[in-house]
Amino acid sequence: MPKIIPVAIFDCVVFGATGDLTLRKLLPALYYRFRDGQMPSESRVIGAARSHLNDEDFRARAAKALEQHVAPADQDPETMQRFLAQLRYVAIDATAPDADWGGFKAVLDEDRVRVFYLATSPDLYGPVCKALGTNGLVTELSRVVLEKPIGHDVASAHAIIGDVAKVFTEAQTFRIDHYLGKETVQNLMALRFANTIFERLWTADVIDHVQITVAETVGLEGRGGYYDKSGAMRDMLQNHMLQLLCLIAMEPPVSLDADRVRDEKLKVLRALKPMEPHEVAGLTVRGQYTRGAIDGKPVPGYLADLGADEPSGTESFVALKAEVRTWRWAGVPFYLRTGKRLPSKVSEIVIQFRAPPFSIFPPESAEWRPNTLIIRLQPEEGMRLEMMTKDPGPGGLRLSPTGLDISFEKTFGKRFPDAYERLLMDTVRGNPTLFMRHDEVEAAWAWVEPILEAWAARPDHPRPYSAGTWGPTAAVALIERDGRTWHEEMI
Ligand code: BG6
Repeated sequence: MPKIIPVAIFDCVVFGATGDLTLRKLLPALYYRFRDGQMPSESRVIGAARSHLNDEDFRARAAKALEQHVAPADQDPETMQRFLAQLRYVAIDATAPDADWGGFKAVLDEDRVRVFYLATSPDLYGPVCKALGTNGLVTELSRVVLEKPIGHDVASAHAIIGDVAKVFTEAQTFRIDHYLGKETVQNLMALRFANTIFERLWTADVIDHVQITVAETVGLEGRGGYYDKSGAMRDMLQNHMLQLLCLIAMEPPVSLDADRVRDEKLKVLRALKPMEPHEVAGLTVRGQYTRGAIDGKPVPGYLADLGADEPSGTESFVALKAEVRTWRWAGVPFYLRTGKRLPSKVSEIVIQFRAPPFSIFPPESAEWRPNTLIIRLQPEEGMRLEMMTKDPGPGGLRLSPTGLDISFEKTFGKRFPDAYERLLMDTVRGNPTLFMRHDEVEAAWAWVEPILEAWAARPDHPRPYSAGTWGPTAAVALIERDGRTWHEEMI
């Protein structure tokens, strides 16, 4: 196992310290990095929020969060206590004119790497950065981390990016898309550019189509206020899914340098064929779950989860067909779908190769399935290559699909760190490779916006689907019209 190199001593200031993201993801991620010796023990995590808490109150909340979100086997009481001792809390209303920034500044150490993590609503990014700048809290060693979604369309994203840029340089700005921190997502780069076999096949001549599925079983999880304003398109597709598409479709970067990688992803985003308003109904499907059952347990519908009496036009499911207009990909459809309250939590990328042009085998000998490479991001991270093989034994020639499997868990046999662990340490190191550059964010919005506008212009609501199913039947029709099927239907 490679030796873990500690990062520099840092102060990590988390705005939105009492919120869900901090408690569920950030504190557990920092705990693991501390436990594994990567977070130096002089470093501090400084929670900042409006609630009037003191250090001890915040530590008590953090302790509860760790108990809930760190695997029981990894909860070492002594290590947890040492980690909790590194937490501080500052009560501040970051947008109030009389906020005590002087007092805040006094808590921070001048000479350390300083990370400002904005786990807040995006409309606070500009004002909080402005306050940090005006009050002299931004040093040369400071960075700011922004959670997605950055804005809700091109104009709002542009405005936020501009406001933040008045205070932090691009090199100091880390726009998080936590999918880029997932081990298997980083493995896409290794799969494509550390091996020769696939890259030669990575073209329209050989690939029939690509599917990207990010399915969740959860519903709104108490985040209805945010989600109902976003929907699946803004919450998942504009960022996580388009980033996955970029990693699959991009050309080899000339180096692993952050900007060289991001240049290539940007080219993909710019090569996405824009959808004309009249095409949107045929190329996209939006859905909203109604009550149903998942794993045999009844679950409420979207409106009940939201606690709303009025119908909502927000989609909890989206499927669409995209096209990347480049020499490599011309004519290869990319089918993307994501949704909440689907039958299982699974994120996977399916590369389906073309069928053989001609068969020498009698039709009754085979249950034909084209070669397929399945890259499983979660759960059970791994890869599987499906190939046709001969069934063993006499009694006639029979062919059937067989999988060559690589299970990362079985191969590496260790815990897969959560994406936030890697990304938080990258912000301290100042390495932006796995973060979105401003032009990527804007290009992604530019592609998504006409779809959102076309949806908004239509009087119909998202199509209903029962919780526990794979979305509206129209999503099946979207791909079947082209003579193809979603991967789970093939199995
Ligand atoms: C977040 C979305 O970015 O990603 C959530 O806001 C979603 O709605 C989550 O549940 C999914 O992340 P993961 O890592 O569980 O696939």
